[in-house]
Amino acid sequence: MHYLNIDDYRQRAKKKLPRGLFEFVHRGTEDELALRNNRAAFERLQLVPRTLVDVSGREAGVEIFGKRWSFPLAVAPTGAAGLMWYQGEVALAKAAAAAGIPFTVATGSLTSMERVAEEAGGNLWFQLYIWPDKRASYALVERAERAGYEALVVTMDTAVTSNREYNVRNGFTIPFRFSWKNILDVVRHPGWMLTVLARYMLTTGMPQYENYPAEMRSSITAQPMGKAMKKTDSLTWDDLKQLREIWPRTLIVKGILDPQDALAAMEAGADGIIVSNHGGRMLDCSIAPLHALPAIVQAVKGRVPVLLDGHIRRGSDIVKALALGATAVLAGRPTLYGVAVAGEQGARHVLKLLHEELLRVMGLVGRPKLSAIDASCLFSVDGHSGPSPRGNL
Ligand SMILES: Cc1cc2nc3c(=O)[nH]c(=O)nc-3n(C[C@H](O)[C@H](O)[C@H](O)COP(=O)(O)O)c2cc1C
Repeated sequence: MHYLNIDDYRQRAKKKLPRGLFEFVHRGTEDELALRNNRAAFERLQLVPRTLVDVSGREAGVEIFGKRWSFPLAVAPTGAAGLMWYQGEVALAKAAAAAGIPFTVATGSLTSMERVAEEAGGNLWFQLYIWPDKRASYALVERAERAGYEALVVTMDTAVTSNREYNVRNGFTIPFRFSWKNILDVVRHPGWMLTVLARYMLTTGMPQYENYPAEMRSSITAQPMGKAMKKTDSLTWDDLKQLREIWPRTLIVKGILDPQDALAAMEAGADGIIVSNHGGRMLDCSIAPLHALPAIVQAVKGRVPVLLDGHIRRGSDIVKALALGATAVLAGRPTLYGVAVAGEQGARHVLKLLHEELLRVMGLVGRPKLSAIDASCLFSVDGHSGPSPRGNL
């Protein structure tokens, strides 16, 4: 493999994918402050190694929500996965199953949740956006239960649509609309055009949102979706409580950045929380999840697992999140880059890289077990202006 890290995959994906599609995946929103802050939060933390510790038995396996994970990472839901590779969601789910970690199928998946379950198996979670038509949303929940999904991940940070100006400039919309600009963009990327777009056209037809009920389904070349398909801006905690009543398995709330919301989610019956700003794709001035994490961990007091996502790119990032109290992390773009470059094999390699990097960092910091990773391994270069060093992060 020529790809030694996630950024190698990102750079290759940039060349392979049409620009409009790559930017849809890679970029953030507005001035991309949140995107940069997500990364900067990791970079401002340093690790303090302990020496002469026997680290020969390094092990990153962990049990979360009653399941064994080979290391504390899950694949985050990403709506566009099926555009990275022909049936990209199946490739991603197979890669996650091979790596022994959960994969989250997005509401906006281009492969149906039933098909992912049949073809890939593994530890599958289903991510839900609650539509204004609640009955349609509940029907999705019932399908997820029937298809054997282990957890429902309810995304709560999309009350209104975010402002992605580059998408407007690129003419990139989901549903996809052809303009001269994006036709040229596609033609300039013949590999993608032939192996992804043409393959869909010759088999299942133009990709569409396969999880949507037939009456709401829309080809990605169609006009923007009707009102009923939009996310709703009137959700409250009562909606989560209602979901809790109909979903019998693990319920995870995604998009929490405030300790009060973490407590409200628990009160509504959540079994887990994902501290996330949607990978810097919603509120541009959002606090970085890593900065929000300590207060949330403190509020939750170990009653439910607290997961985090947002710019996990190295094994050291996983160690830093765990040191601040996260039970595990999720990654979105890294496996999208992997699957865009080499399908299932690419995604598998990305997960292997992260797992190996995690074990290497655990060895180098002298913490051979996850349970030994705590705030004592951290030093913040921010001094008094940021989270204070050691123990109080
Ligand atoms: C292309 C793309 C599509 C996404 N689609 C969804 C989605 O449908 N539902 C959701 O809850 N989060 C979605 N996310 C957010 C991810 O689940 C996750 O929070 C984010 O990607 C984490 O940041 P990272 O990409 O830096 O790892 C998407 C992210 C990307 C990059």
